[in-house]
Amino acid sequence: MAVIKANAYGHGMVPIAHALTDVDSLAVARIEEAIQLREAGVACPIVVLEGVSNADELRLAGQHGLETVVHCREQIMLMEENSGTGADLWLKLDTGMNRLGFAAEEFREAHRRLVNLPSVSRNPGLMSHFSSADLSESETSEDQLKKFLEMTEGLPGERSLANSAGILNISASHLDWVRPGLSLYGVSPIAGKTGQDLDLKPVMRFSTWLVAIRNLAAGDMVGYGCRWRAAKPTRLGIAACGYGDGYPWALPDGTPLLVNGMNASLAGRVSMDMIAINLGADSDARVGHEVLLWGEPELPVEEIAAAAATIPYELLCRVSQRVSREIVSAQTPIR
Ligand SMILES: Cc1ncc(COP(=O)(O)O)c(C=O)c1O
Repeated sequence: MAVIKANAYGHGMVPIAHALTDVDSLAVARIEEAIQLREAGVACPIVVLEGVSNADELRLAGQHGLETVVHCREQIMLMEENSGTGADLWLKLDTGMNRLGFAAEEFREAHRRLVNLPSVSRNPGLMSHFSSADLSESETSEDQLKKFLEMTEGLPGERSLANSAGILNISASHLDWVRPGLSLYGVSPIAGKTGQDLDLKPVMRFSTWLVAIRNLAAGDMVGYGCRWRAAKPTRLGIAACGYGDGYPWALPDGTPLLVNGMNASLAGRVSMDMIAINLGADSDARVGHEVLLWGEPELPVEEIAAAAATIPYELLCRVSQRVSREIVSAQTPIR
């Protein structure tokens, strides 16, 4: 079950859905995302991970043949009052994350009520979510897996627990369905490791180009707040990318970049539309040359995220709408 919510983690949900020709199901967070996929001609099963929150969404789920996750009593009541959805369901158990899902003592009763709905023809899938699978040998994950297996024992229905970190760290959690998100895009969910360390290949290559070059004298300052000051004569590049594109404002001076394949570094605060780059003494960079922000094995998004004190998930999702997505290679875009 390929997780393509939040615009496929910033990659572009519809093209990613079309490129994933070999998945059994797609998963998104919200009904609107699923409808967007259906309207783009995506016909395969789609699971809505947050489920429905009102009668309108319930009707839309039925109309578009969406599988919805049922995680709270209100959703069951909604389905009972509206005689179900006509689409398949997943029942979610809270195994300790305390975000979505039925508590252990409510789970069996919730299951009984769901299978009694006149519209439910297939046994609901059974699922839960890890809170800390990115920590190897986490006791929490072991407890969650144990609780999930105990609580679902003897119930019919396919089982799903593992996100990317669960897939990588806890093979006993794979069960019937795995739900990779971040790893699908070639990025590591495990702190301190990059996709390359895990034999994954980054899908996103985030790049821009130089729009100006200036020569600074020692002592010249750069950008808002004059945060960076040239210690010696410096060639400075200005690139067309800023926090308005999703390049984090929080990045410090010295954050690595590749300009025309050569090492360079951020100089001064990130603006909304531009950044300044210390091109280095040997640079022959010119206006128009490519600036790579992240995405090659030598410039992994995991390292840029660490420099911005955030996680790669956030950087990928934050690439803004105005950044054009160019698909450079995909399988036949037909489903
Ligand atoms: C319920 C659920 N399953 C799977 C995933 C995928 O997680 P990851 O991107 O860590 O693989 C998510 C993402 O947040 C999720 O909410």
